[in-house]
Amino acid sequence: MTRRFYVTTPIYYVNARPHLGHAYTTIVADVAARFNTMRGSQAYFLTGTDEHGDKVVRAAKKENMTPREYVDTISQLFRDLWPELSVNNSAFIRTTDPSHMAVVEQVLQKIYDAGDIYFAEYEGQYCFGCERFYTDRELVQGKCPDHETAPEIIKESNYFFKMSRYQDWLIDHIRNTPDFIRPERYKNEALAFLKEPLEDLCISRPKTRLKWGITLPFDRDYVTYVWFDALLNYVSALGYPEGEKYQNYWPVVQHIVAKDILKPHGIYWPIMLKAAGIPVYRHLNVHGYWNIEQSKMSKSLGNVVEPLELKNIYGLDAFRFFLIRDMAFGLDSSFSEDSLVQRINSDLANDLGNLFSRVVSMLHKYCQGIVPEIEPAVEQECEFGLEADARNAIADYEDLMESFQFHNSLRAVWKFIGRMNKYVDVTAPWELAKKKSSRKSLAVVLYNLLEGLRIISGLIYPVMPDTAAKMQKHLGLDPQEPFYLLDRLKTWKTIKPGTQLPKSTVLFPRVEPAEKKGNQAAAPEKSTRHPEIKPEITIEQFSAVDLRVATVVQAEKIPRAKKVLKLEVDLGQKRIIVAGIAEKYAPEELVGKQVIVVANLKPAKLMGIVSNGMLVAAVDKSGPTLATLDQPVEPGTPLR
Ligand code: ME8
Ligand code: MG
Repeated sequence: MTRRFYVTTPIYYVNARPHLGHAYTTIVADVAARFNTMRGSQAYFLTGTDEHGDKVVRAAKKENMTPREYVDTISQLFRDLWPELSVNNSAFIRTTDPSHMAVVEQVLQKIYDAGDIYFAEYEGQYCFGCERFYTDRELVQGKCPDHETAPEIIKESNYFFKMSRYQDWLIDHIRNTPDFIRPERYKNEALAFLKEPLEDLCISRPKTRLKWGITLPFDRDYVTYVWFDALLNYVSALGYPEGEKYQNYWPVVQHIVAKDILKPHGIYWPIMLKAAGIPVYRHLNVHGYWNIEQSKMSKSLGNVVEPLELKNIYGLDAFRFFLIRDMAFGLDSSFSEDSLVQRINSDLANDLGNLFSRVVSMLHKYCQGIVPEIEPAVEQECEFGLEADARNAIADYEDLMESFQFHNSLRAVWKFIGRMNKYVDVTAPWELAKKKSSRKSLAVVLYNLLEGLRIISGLIYPVMPDTAAKMQKHLGLDPQEPFYLLDRLKTWKTIKPGTQLPKSTVLFPRVEPAEKKGNQAAAPEKSTRHPEIKPEITIEQFSAVDLRVATVVQAEKIPRAKKVLKLEVDLGQKRIIVAGIAEKYAPEELVGKQVIVVANLKPAKLMGIVSNGMLVAAVDKSGPTLATLDQPVEPGTPLR
């Protein structure tokens, strides 16, 4: 049977232009869909726009447009953005699509007939931004925690959905279904909501207050509450209840949302599905916020970053890579152009780009660009476990992608890239090329490197499809073939000897830090003054300082110490070092990094912990930047 995969993004409100936050979720969904294609699954990927409700009416008014004109305009901006970001969605749904509206009416009627909707008078505190009532407990200092505005008191008769009836069922379902809501922290958050008695959900708005919505099929004086309308997009887009797509894809659905809409997706939606007799979804995958200087990037706060601008400056694949690599799925991440530049230069230009151009140029230098024949006799002695490492990298990658740990799956790929760079250093093809007697070894080494690059090109495909294709072309692979299929990546030795490869190319040019760019705000006039050069020392004096290369094994924050991190490093032996780098580096980005340590510095107690050594860093206005090596080396290697 064909394996299938169905992934959705939230359908975005059309009250403002798309920004980096929307781009992130949608690119994540694209990565997940492409990864499933790699495994040979049929993937269906849905995104779209949420177009009803007072929020939209007010936004339209501000622009002097009718709601209809306004939603058409903004929805189009979203629809047009996705192909620009290599987002390959299968469909784009709008809640103003007549087919969607018909499904909403149908489901409402079904739940109404089942007796789960009743009519009552209600008075409550309403946030127009969120389009929902708030309880006192949910407000922060009397204000909506999202919009930081005071809610208004509203009293009216409305229709209510008996959510309370399903509370115990939902608690059991969340507890008993592994990874129903993931990562774990959000499952716990949902269960925490459910500790309190669940209030019934108000699902109507009187037309006297709001006309821009879907009319209730059982009372023409009311329209449907936007969330009831919006959530149903996930089934209406598949042609619920009869459509073939619904039959094929609904059973495997996974949603992706940020934590702002955990409650509607983790609580309302499963209950709506249950009440309507529709099977509940498989997984709800919840990610954190992109923040800018500690606050959530959001249209209401007006601090948004435009995805197309970043794409135009840094290139699309680099931008996609940064988003996926820099945010640990589930946690918040803070966006800065500097960290984007740093990632491009270190991970892309340095690690991957250099490896690729080194290998391809050696092939041209030593083999006229022709993939060499290899002799089984010499194969083993030149292998150094590279194939096994490739196999392990693929296995780790697959597990991590499957469980939505995209940042870690890229780390697994980069670990293998590091391994490849080391293989070049260990085998030293330039030495092998010097002697006739080692020509056969040279052929094996270069062939293995090409194979390693082929695997890397496949593994980066979901995140960087254009770069994957470019690498493929330079490895002489047939562009018509789905070279990224995992089954193919798992088969070693598939590049054909005798193939002529095109000349090398630069995959990722290095980029300048943002403040040095001409089009950015001018750099400060005065060059920052550095201290005077210190008095002369002898070579003996210098060699008294024992500098060693160390690999960071573990890194963690220290409670109540904002500036320092506790690191465990390996410099031939394990050491604990306390380093003042917490404001610049997140613990998870340090693990695996090679740093330079002053290994014979007298131990000192910092924040109650004995620190055995000190990291070498350049310190400027932005804080410390760690010294690292150009290439990985054995931990403990001395510097001189
Ligand atoms: O909530 N960081 O639409 P919305 C990360 N229409 N992701 C972010 C983000 C940020 N700073 N800002 C926005 C709605 N997002 C409803 C959804 S679904 C049936 C209805 C992303 O336009 C993230 O995916 O406010 C978040 O959940 C979504 O945009 C909210 O989009
Ligand atoms: Mg929002």
